[in-house]
Amino acid sequence: MTGQDGLKGEIRKLLRERNAVMLAHNYQRDEIQEIADITGDSLGLSQEAARCEAQVIVFCGVHFMAESAAILAPDKTVLLPRLDAGCPMADMITADDLRDYRATHPEAVVVTYVNSSAEVKALSDICCTSGNAVNVVRSIPENREIYMVPDRNLALYVEKASGRRLTWFDGFCPTHERLKVEAAERAREAHPDALLVVHPECPPEVVEMADAVLSTAGMYSFCRRSEAREFLIGTEMGILYRLRKENPGKTFHLVSRALICPNMKLTTLEDVHDSLESLSPVVTVSPDIRSKALSALDAMLRVPRDVS
Ligand code: 13P
Ligand code: SF4
Repeated sequence: MTGQDGLKGEIRKLLRERNAVMLAHNYQRDEIQEIADITGDSLGLSQEAARCEAQVIVFCGVHFMAESAAILAPDKTVLLPRLDAGCPMADMITADDLRDYRATHPEAVVVTYVNSSAEVKALSDICCTSGNAVNVVRSIPENREIYMVPDRNLALYVEKASGRRLTWFDGFCPTHERLKVEAAERAREAHPDALLVVHPECPPEVVEMADAVLSTAGMYSFCRRSEAREFLIGTEMGILYRLRKENPGKTFHLVSRALICPNMKLTTLEDVHDSLESLSPVVTVSPDIRSKALSALDAMLRVPRDVS
């Protein structure tokens, strides 16, 4: 038995003792995804947190995701093993930025990507994920002005896909922004039969080239169902773990080695172990912020799947 196997066993034991569930985002390290109870995208995991019976949630992801879990599951203890695991894109917009915008554009509907702080969600009308953003925007009456935060690349993609005129905050994901057209072209030359599948956080020129533009959850189902045997993946490298496991007959290439989110890679097995042992650090959201942020999340959850 290796040291890592021993640690995995200890984590599983602590999970039982603490009546805890281990959730891991699709971008987490392989060994974290391997022993998690549930892996998934940011919103899906927070919904699982609210649904499950466990009293303690150990959230292996970044800070805004643990906050969403705390918003949706207020009676549970939400642990984020590395408090320094943040999301640079979520941090690009502050509550003051959004307050200033609202003061000058009181009529606008603010659509906020779940990759944002609880405070920013609390100032928003409706949330969205990369998987439902087009539907969320289509659900807003035609005569309303729409402002999307914080991701400019997602906003531009949604504007094109929904046919609605949008304005947006100038934020971006530093990891997806590193995926350049040249890298996508090189990957296509090297693997001409492969489908190019990218996340809408990628730069617009890369999104334009893609065969499919999907959220992480969307990528799993697309690649599973597709007749193609080979795929070029344009999102954070952690997604490869499950794509390869679930599709043994298919081949997956990461479009660029730059697709690593340092924050998503911070959490180690040791961190998970220590967090479960000490039951810290705990992520909380104040009741006032929570109820407003919950309204924006609930508004999103009420949007039907297909709004045309
Ligand atoms: P998901 O919403 O698909 O989980 O993606 C989160 C994220 O951080 C994308 O970069
Ligand atoms: Fe944030 Fe980008 Fe990392 Fe996702 S991949 S957590 S958006 S920095």
